[in-house]
Amino acid sequence: MPHYKKLIGKLCYLSPRDPDDFKKLAEWLNDVETSMNMSIRIAPNEIEQKGVVEGWLKAGDHGFAIVDLATDKHIGDCGLHQIDWVNRTAAFGIIIGEKEYWGKGYGTEATRLIMDYGFNILNLESVRLQVKEFNKRGVRAYEKAGFKTIGIQRKETFFGRKALDVVNMDILAEEFESPYVRGVMDKVLNGAV
Ligand SMILES: CC(C)(COP(=O)(O)OP(=O)(O)OC[C@H]1O[C@@H](n2cnc3c(N)ncnc32)[C@H](O)[C@@H]1OP(=O)(O)O)[C@@H](O)C(=O)NCCC(=O)NCCS
Repeated sequence: MPHYKKLIGKLCYLSPRDPDDFKKLAEWLNDVETSMNMSIRIAPNEIEQKGVVEGWLKAGDHGFAIVDLATDKHIGDCGLHQIDWVNRTAAFGIIIGEKEYWGKGYGTEATRLIMDYGFNILNLESVRLQVKEFNKRGVRAYEKAGFKTIGIQRKETFFGRKALDVVNMDILAEEFESPYVRGVMDKVLNGAV
C-alpha cells in the first residue's frame, strides 16, 4: 500500500498510516534499545494482540507514518495524543524505528511537520512531551524543533533497576514557525494554485 505526502519536508514526509505500518511499529517497539527511550514498553506481540494501535485510534489520536522523502522508506511513526479540544492542548510522541536514520535530522524535521499539522490544521495552542533525561538525542532534537524545557520530574521512570529523571517540555503555537502548511496556504490565497 502506498504512502501519501500529507506534510512534506526536505528529508521526510508524514503520511497517513498504512495497515502494514503497524507490523513495523511492533518490530520497532520490541527492540529494547529503541523502546527503553519510550513510555510505551510493551511485551512481545502485544501491539497486535491487544490492539494498542486501535486504542490510539479510538482515543481520537492523530498519528502519521514518517517516510524518507528520497526513498519512500517507512522509517518511523509520530502522533498527537490526549487531544483536549477545549483547551487546545495535546501530548506528542515519536519513534524513528530504523536506527540507521538516527542522528541525521529526521526526528527534528518530523517533529516540526507534525507540530505544523497540530498548530495550523488542528488549531492547537500548546503541545507537551516527556523525554527521559538520559535520551540526549531526543532532548536535543526537540529543542531544535522549538520545544522548551519546563521542568524535570525526578525519579519519574524506573528501568533496569534504576529510578531515572524525566524532562517535561512544551511548545506554543505563537512560538512556532510553520515549515509547510503556511507556505501552501499563501500560495492558495495568492491564487498561485
Ligand atoms: C529521539 C529521536 C526521535 C530523535 O530523532 P533523530 O532523527 O535521531 O534526531 P536528530 O538527528 O533530528 O537530532 C539529534 C540531535 O541530538 C544530538 N545528539 C545525539 N546524541 C547526543 C548525545 N549523546 N548528547 C547530546 N546530543 C546528542 C545530535 O548531534 C543532534 O543535534 P545537532 O543537530 O545539534 O548535532 C530518534 O532518535 C528516536 O526515535 N529514538 C528512539 C526512540 C525515542 O527515543 N523516541 C522518543 C522518546 S521521547
